[in-house]
Amino acid sequence: MAASDKVNIGIVGVGGRGRDLLQSYGKINGVTVKYFCDADNASLEKAQGIALKMGIPKPAEVSDMRRVLDDKDVDAVVVATPDHWHAPAAILAADAGKDVYVEKPASHNIREGRLSAIIRKRSFLNFGRRDPHRAGGAHHQVKVAPEVPIVPWPVTNIVP
Ligand SMILES: NC(=O)c1ccc[n+]([C@@H]2O[C@H](COP(=O)([O-])OP(=O)(O)OC[C@H]3O[C@@H](n4cnc5c(N)ncnc54)[C@H](O)[C@@H]3O)[C@@H](O)[C@H]2O)c1
Repeated sequence: MAASDKVNIGIVGVGGRGRDLLQSYGKINGVTVKYFCDADNASLEKAQGIALKMGIPKPAEVSDMRRVLDDKDVDAVVVATPDHWHAPAAILAADAGKDVYVEKPASHNIREGRLSAIIRKRSFLNFGRRDPHRAGGAHHQVKVAPEVPIVPWPVTNIVP
């Protein structure tokens, strides 16, 4: 994490919810949306339209979330894919040293939920909630993430 108050993020999944989150994160001072990641070009196009209207710098477009995770300048990842990608994406991101905000539900099955819970103890992982106050808190926590130490956990050794 950079020793500054600037935070670079990538949004993985820029469908309906990802674009809502773009409009929240894109307004936070010091936050740069560096990547849009989506498997569907139509979603990427709609997200770029919103970025343009918001007047923020154009994020790079990728279809494979690993390209976002490979970028050392990315501090945090927002996961707004369909449910079955939530835990895999969050675990991969935490393992790559990123802070994570992941939409609800936290996981698609019990094993993934257990793995995510372990990750949460070791890195900075927030889950999306419908409650607007809690969602606001999660946004705020990502913003202050530079103060939080990140220790990725070797999930491959975990027994379910
Ligand atoms: N917290 C809330 O209030 C709230 C509200 C709505 C939805 N959600 C959650 O947000 C998630 C997304 O919902 P949505 O309505 O935006 O769905 P959506 O289908 O509109 O968007 C999902 C996007 O993810 C993309 N995607 C799928 N697999 C991907 C992958 N492996 N890598 C990159 N992109 C991928 C799809 O192409 C699509 O653009 C759901 O899990 C839903 O439960 C939360």
